[in-house]
Amino acid sequence: MRFRRCAAAAAVALFAVLAASGGTASAASCPWMNPTLSPNARAEMLLGAMSLSDKVAMTYQQYPLDYHYGAAGYIPGNASLCIPDLVFNDAGQGVGDAQTGTTAFPAPIAQSASWDPGLQYQFGAALGQEASEKGIDVQLAPGIETDRVPMDGRNWEYASEDPFLSGQTGAAEVEGIQSQHVIVTLKHYIANSQETDRMTDSADVDQRTLEEMYAPQYDVAIHQGGAMGVMCSYNRINSVYACENPQTLKGMLDGQFGFTGMVVSDWGATHSTVASAMNGLDIEMNVTPGTYFGPALETAVEDGQVPTSTLNDMVLRILRAMFTVGVFDHPPAAQPEAYAAPVSTPDHVALARTISEEGTVLLKNQDGILPLTGSGQKIALIGPAAGQTGAENEYNGEGSGHIPEVGVVPVVSPLQGITQRAAADDDTVLYADGTATADAVAAAKAANVAVVVVGDSESEGTDRSSLTLTGGTCTLEGCVPQTSDQNALISAVAAANPNTVVVLDTGGPVLMPWLGQVKGLFEAWYPGQEDGNALAALLFGDVDPSAHLPETFPASETAQPISTAAQWPGVTEPGDSVGPHSIYSEGLLVGYRWYEANGVTPLFPFGYGLSYTTFHFSDLTVTPASSGAVARFTLQNTGSRYGADVAQAYVGMPASTGEPPRQLKGYQKVWLEPGQSKTVSIALPETSFAHWDTTAGTWVVTPGDYTVSVGDSSAGLPLQATLSRSSAQLPAGAY
Ligand code: BGC
Repeated sequence: MRFRRCAAAAAVALFAVLAASGGTASAASCPWMNPTLSPNARAEMLLGAMSLSDKVAMTYQQYPLDYHYGAAGYIPGNASLCIPDLVFNDAGQGVGDAQTGTTAFPAPIAQSASWDPGLQYQFGAALGQEASEKGIDVQLAPGIETDRVPMDGRNWEYASEDPFLSGQTGAAEVEGIQSQHVIVTLKHYIANSQETDRMTDSADVDQRTLEEMYAPQYDVAIHQGGAMGVMCSYNRINSVYACENPQTLKGMLDGQFGFTGMVVSDWGATHSTVASAMNGLDIEMNVTPGTYFGPALETAVEDGQVPTSTLNDMVLRILRAMFTVGVFDHPPAAQPEAYAAPVSTPDHVALARTISEEGTVLLKNQDGILPLTGSGQKIALIGPAAGQTGAENEYNGEGSGHIPEVGVVPVVSPLQGITQRAAADDDTVLYADGTATADAVAAAKAANVAVVVVGDSESEGTDRSSLTLTGGTCTLEGCVPQTSDQNALISAVAAANPNTVVVLDTGGPVLMPWLGQVKGLFEAWYPGQEDGNALAALLFGDVDPSAHLPETFPASETAQPISTAAQWPGVTEPGDSVGPHSIYSEGLLVGYRWYEANGVTPLFPFGYGLSYTTFHFSDLTVTPASSGAVARFTLQNTGSRYGADVAQAYVGMPASTGEPPRQLKGYQKVWLEPGQSKTVSIALPETSFAHWDTTAGTWVVTPGDYTVSVGDSSAGLPLQATLSRSSAQLPAGAY
């Protein structure tokens, strides 16, 4: 439904800007501009001053995509009521769409691989600041859907296959963005697991699975992060479109999670006037402006099909979000200056580098091949993703999360970053772009070590057809694979030089037929503009690798939870002409939960990641706390370098609950000096022991013994303790 933004589109938009921006009436005529009143009181007061058409004007995108200074969406303000413009812009990897002069951060999946909510907060704050300076006050981020299908074209835009990790990551980013008076939109709500048939597919999912595997992160981002915006998705849930779904909008979002902010449709995800308004949609965004919520909504209100009270509630929710986050009191920078302003700062570029360093996962390090040491070494740097230009360099995902091209963003390629860092050790880089295997082999043979950088493209609108590393480019229209075979390239290089290290720039898991032939392996995802600098710092050991996988990497195409056509990409159902149905038959066994329940060993487990130092876990105790329990244990750095481990706590519930074997319920990234020990405490609130009871319609704790396991991956949990819990019923939305 959308196209990749380009600077040309934005340039056209400059001619079409309305002068009618809000905020020019005096505070005396707008008593709701008094900041000492509560956001709700201010919203109610303003609503009382609005006419029917004033209200309707706030509920829909009135202009085409990219119309307003390269932003995806624009709802003009109302000067006579002091209402500022609402400017919506995409922001997965940085302030994107057609904005220029912004920072290209690593992809969301790389950010969550850092397992560092503090860093995620800093990212959010930087994003919010850049957005505000570009004249934007609504960020179309963060993406926190559960990565259910490893082939999903938006895998890179989401955080994890685990709702707990997605929730913590999302909540921290929300706090950061909204600290800059920019409203977030959590997306894409809900069960948005695939791009194939994305506008029509129905996610057929039972209520318990929906509550446990897809909803907790929204709940947490709302009650812990304070999110004031949610974007409903394109897909249907159990045959009902997400943007008119009473169960997921009114029932779960409002009823359970207590959400009081605005629900914004994805671009073209609205399919009705009355049903959408009645079931919880507040703003229609569309490529064709105002299809359902423009004049059609006004008529529906006049005809009594949509009660005025419903329209009032919709507008109140929009105004409440704006007052709560501070859009009225701290409007973003004015246009046209903001559009032209460069807003990236050296601090933000440094942050992009830190996130990439902390988000790049070291997956293999045989014989201590890494970090690269010594001087006067010859390093063969090989591969399509190592090169200078954006066409080769997989620093960025595709679709609305894409950030502007090389030439606009100053990307440091692996070739640039590694060449510069190598010079400091008097090492020499022999570069081959990998298009000719003979050149790559010759470089590898002449070198002490070979580093092969390969990548895969992912895009909104298109799923990958398999888990094979194909390279090439994916767009909304489909994927065009590379003509050269990257797997064959790696094997040829590894045969020529036993000291081969592979660096993957992919948006999600890929198969690795060459894994046994190489000694070192990094997953760098889409690393953003500091790609080469971050990679060099990790390869040479200037920083310790500290990332862990937010997603399981399968060993084969079939040995993974999504292996039938009914699960993905879906099947037609008799009598439903709208679109296919994807059957969530794996239920609660999403990601690592499936591998553990079925005794299947993946290529790399969820939560896994290596460091250049080593760690030891000991002395676990789990003691009851005022709510739930606390796990305490000792973590020691047993190696000779400063480094970090990600301590993870998983809970196993009594068999009678029917829950997966173990589930992540807490984690902490811990940096330690060589030899240093630390007592780590991880809180396990009562929700950690609860499961969704469909009959009770809420979270319940089954009496019995619970196992708490601690370690540094879902498959590496050296410590166990048990804790008994008594029966409890938690309020819905208490997750
Ligand atoms: C995407 C959204 C995005 C919107 C506006 C849609 O195609 O699904 O994620 O925010 O476009 O660019």
